[in-house]
Amino acid sequence: MIGVSESSQQSSNMKGDGYRLSFFLFLLIVLSMSHSISHEALEWAQAPRLEKGTFELICQQVIPETPDISTFVFQTSEKIHFTFKPGQFITLMQELDGEMVYRSYTISSSPSRPYTLNLTIQRVEGGRMSEWLFGYLKPGAVIKATGPDGVFNLMDKPARNVLFLSASCGITPVMSMTRWMLDTCMDADIRFIHSAASEEHIVFRKELEMLDQQHDCFNHSCVLDDRDGWLNQEMLQHLVPDLHARTLYICGSPAYIDAVRSMVEQAGFDMDNFHHEVFNEAIITEISSRNHSEESDTKHQVSLEKTAVVFEMSPDEFLVDGLLAQKAPIVAACRAGVCGACKVQILEGEVESTGNAVLTAAEIEQGFVLSCCSRPKSDLRIDI
Ligand code: FES
Repeated sequence: MIGVSESSQQSSNMKGDGYRLSFFLFLLIVLSMSHSISHEALEWAQAPRLEKGTFELICQQVIPETPDISTFVFQTSEKIHFTFKPGQFITLMQELDGEMVYRSYTISSSPSRPYTLNLTIQRVEGGRMSEWLFGYLKPGAVIKATGPDGVFNLMDKPARNVLFLSASCGITPVMSMTRWMLDTCMDADIRFIHSAASEEHIVFRKELEMLDQQHDCFNHSCVLDDRDGWLNQEMLQHLVPDLHARTLYICGSPAYIDAVRSMVEQAGFDMDNFHHEVFNEAIITEISSRNHSEESDTKHQVSLEKTAVVFEMSPDEFLVDGLLAQKAPIVAACRAGVCGACKVQILEGEVESTGNAVLTAAEIEQGFVLSCCSRPKSDLRIDI
C-alpha cells in the first residue's frame, strides 16, 4: 500500500511539474509575442516619413470594390509613413514590351492612415497598363512608383463646406479627402454625390453608408444611371440646396465634368470655387490615339535645340510620343495634363494644345506647353 501511495505521490508530483513547465513555456511564448508585437508597434510609430521621390511598392492586399474596380493596398519593404496631400496621385512605372509605361492613379487612402498606400484602379478593356496591373498585382508583387503629385488636393485648395462630386472611379480623390477630413475631426460639412451605372458599381458603398450613419457632418447620395438617369440640374438643386455656400471638388470623365460645369455655371455658381480633376484621360488618350487609323500625309519638322536632334512628326501625334521616341529627357507621368512632368518650351513654331491647366501664366507666356496635350501645327524648335 505504502509503495502504491508513494508511486501515486510521485506521479502526481510529476504531473504537477509538467503543468508548471507547460504554464512557464506558455508564459514565455506570450511574453515574447507581446514583446515582439510591442517592438513592431514601436517600429511603426518611429517609422520615417516617405516624402516625394521614386520608390518600390509591394502589394499587400487586393480588395474587389465593383466588377471592374479593385483597391490595391501597398507598403514598401521598410516600415515607413506615406506622406501626401489628400487628393494627390502617384505614378506607376512599368516596362511593357520593351517600352517604359507611366500611368498615374489617385491615392484613395488618407494620409491620416499613413502605414499603407491604397490605389483604387478601374480595369479598362484595351487599357494597356490597367489590364496588365490586374493580372500582375497580387500580394507580394513589386512595382516602381514616383510621386506623390497633383494640385487637386485639400491642402492646396482648402475648404470646410464642401461638395464632392464623382463618377465611377473618379471617387478616389474625394474619398481620400473625406477620410482625411473625418479622421482629423476638422470642423467640416461634407455633401457627397457619387454617380454610378448601378448599385453594384458603387465604389466604397458600405463605407459611404457607414460614414453617413456615424457622422452628422457627412451626407451622401448616389445617382444611379439605371435608376435615376444622369445627374441633372433639377437633381443637383434638390440634393444640394445650399450649393452656393460650398466649394466644389469634382472628379470623373471629361463629359461628366463638362456637364456639371455647365449646370453650376447656369446656376450662377462662383467658378473660383470649382475644382476639378479628369479621371483616366490617359487611358482615353491611349485608346483614341491607338484607334486613330488615318495617317496624315503632312509632316512637320521638329528640331531639338540642345541635343541637335531633328525628326518629323505628323499633326495627329502628341509631341510627347515624338520626344520619347527620340529619347528626349522628359517624363510622361500622367499623360493627362495633370502632373506637368512633360512640359517643354517651344522656341519657334505653333502647337495645338488641349490642356495647360498646370502651367503658370508666366510659363505660358514663355512658350511652355504640355507635350502630352500638344500636337504640332507647324515646324517646331524646342528647347531640349
Ligand atoms: S505627362 Fe503629366 S502633364 Fe503631361
